[in-house]
Amino acid sequence: MTPTPLHCIVLAAGQGTRMKSARPKVLHGVGGRPMLAHVLTAAQKLGAATVHVVYGHGGNAVRAWAEAEAPQALSLHWAHQAEQLGTAHAVQQAMPAIPDDATVIVMYGDVPLVRASTLTPLVDAGRTGLAVLTTTLEDPAGYGRILRDDTGAVIGIVEQRDATPEQQALREINTGFIAAPAGRLRAWLSKIGNDNAKGEYYLTDAVALAVADGVRVEAVQAADASEVEGVNDRLQLAHAERLFQRRQADALMRAGVQFADPARFELRGALNHGRDVMIDVGCVFEGDVTLDDDVRIGPHCVLRDVTLGPGTVVEAHSVLEHCSAGAGARIGPFARLRPGAALGDDVHVGNFVEVKNVTVGTGSKANHLAYLGDGEVGAGVNIGAGTIFCNYDGANKHRTVIDDGAFIGSDTQLVAPVRVGRDATVAAGSTITKDVPDGGLTLCRAREQKHYPNWQRPTKAKRPKP
Ligand code: UD1
Ligand code: MG
Repeated sequence: MTPTPLHCIVLAAGQGTRMKSARPKVLHGVGGRPMLAHVLTAAQKLGAATVHVVYGHGGNAVRAWAEAEAPQALSLHWAHQAEQLGTAHAVQQAMPAIPDDATVIVMYGDVPLVRASTLTPLVDAGRTGLAVLTTTLEDPAGYGRILRDDTGAVIGIVEQRDATPEQQALREINTGFIAAPAGRLRAWLSKIGNDNAKGEYYLTDAVALAVADGVRVEAVQAADASEVEGVNDRLQLAHAERLFQRRQADALMRAGVQFADPARFELRGALNHGRDVMIDVGCVFEGDVTLDDDVRIGPHCVLRDVTLGPGTVVEAHSVLEHCSAGAGARIGPFARLRPGAALGDDVHVGNFVEVKNVTVGTGSKANHLAYLGDGEVGAGVNIGAGTIFCNYDGANKHRTVIDDGAFIGSDTQLVAPVRVGRDATVAAGSTITKDVPDGGLTLCRAREQKHYPNWQRPTKAKRPKP
């Protein structure tokens, strides 16, 4: 028999007052992605047919985010909760779009670390009865407590504010995640009132109603309590971030990545790696980073959407963004690779060298203090300290091309568009404004200082509107 379709209801209507933020709580990030994104990923892994997001405060921002960024494959349904009258009321907003034969799981948008593998047994139990995800805490203050009878069967949940001192001593708590057959849940929701300390419609009252109906209530235990921690303020957000980062670092170490200190590594995206990759302290990786075998990243580097070939070394304090390098390259310390920097094998880019939108051929070197912007550098080229590609005339960008084997002396300005020929040598201190032929020495130093008072900067060529 094929299982009934699974519908996930994600509660995300809370204002998140304690974040003290203009941004809706569920859009605050963990590991570089909104908390809601993590919850949606878990829902997707569970095989949800549809995910119903119950939104309220800041709902437009949440929807705008989801429309742009949420996984395309997910079928999302939005249920607006105008007034927050409690968790049962929130769930009720989504129910009209859910068929009676479905299985429902209720998730919280502000519990980002929960694993699909933890929720799978909850969903399985929720196909036939009411399943509640519980855990046991040292300090259960603030949570709903699980009530059991003498035989150990779950008979109810009591909220902190409504609990007797004896009930408050119980340490098994309700995580908030529940699963149940949709038809049953609908019937229970219609019977839940708001006669309690908060005057809210409590979803947790479904437990006692299920017991009264003779429906089995199963408490599924979450082994790792940290997975089901909610985020209400910035302290808890930072705590969730640490847990998440540690989880990622642990998985990477198990897969063979070496960290100088796994507690001092931040991954806000995905890291693909080969064997014997080593990462020193204080690095931040964002987007998609791919490091081939034997890559070594020095301390305090930032890598965003970067691909590095085998044996490439990035020294301390380098910032690399939307760029790539082949095998055996040496980058940094203090190098800056900007979008479109494509370094070949064995290329050296040293301290205070900035490369943007330039292809650099095998074995070429720019070891100190240079700006390489918009162009192409061949193989075996040596670029001296202080070399600048003058790519920008104040309005337009132009390209600099340096052919294989050329040598650019220190403090050279290459005023683009310009080309330096194969095996050419440009003497130090030259300002090159015309193409340099292959081979030989080209030297261009001003004999005397001149001034042109009526010179005018070029103006930007107006592009026709598409
Ligand atoms: C709830 C549970 C409690 C459990 C705890 C776990 C109830 C009655 N209590 O308590 O047993 O231990 O979570 O964290 O369910 N929300 C809405 N609309 C509403 C009310 C809430 O979308 O009208 C959302 C909130 O944004 C939040 C979640 O539901 O994501 C839980 O609501 P919250 O008010 O924090 O419930 P708790 O009092 O913490
Ligand atoms: Mg709460």
